[in-house]
Amino acid sequence: MEQTLSIIKPDAVKKNVIGKIIDRFESNNLKIAAMKKIELSKKDAESFYAVHAERPFFNALVEFMTSGAVVVMVLEGENAVLKNRELMGATNPKEAEKGTIRADFAKDIDANAVHGSDSLENAKIEIDFFFANREIS
Ligand code: CMP
Repeated sequence: MEQTLSIIKPDAVKKNVIGKIIDRFESNNLKIAAMKKIELSKKDAESFYAVHAERPFFNALVEFMTSGAVVVMVLEGENAVLKNRELMGATNPKEAEKGTIRADFAKDIDANAVHGSDSLENAKIEIDFFFANREIS
């Protein structure tokens, strides 16, 4: 069993599709092992996305991720990291396959509905960033 971190981003929260996105996970054998709805501070967003600090889109990314509430979740299941990435689709919704979360709910590469850990190693780091052990079950 693997665990991965998922974030439903402000665009999808504003569109009122939290439940529809969670259904994609549950319908594909990913269990919600932890979940909370929060507003990220600028500092939260900057440190969560620190690996992108030098990228040209960093400031826009931080501004977007602090523009409204997000839902952060730990998803658990077989091959959870890869399965979540397949369910999300390509980072750019315009390139995402039909039937994926980003193809169905996202507008563009900045407002792309969801984030998911890109490796098991990063999943552990990202889960630790948001959750204490006792919040995950
Ligand atoms: P996410 O998986 O949350 O990780 C970083 C985010 O930066 C990414 O999704 C996109 O929403 C955003 N982003 C904006 N421009 C780019 C880009 N050119 N390449 C990758 N990510 C980008």
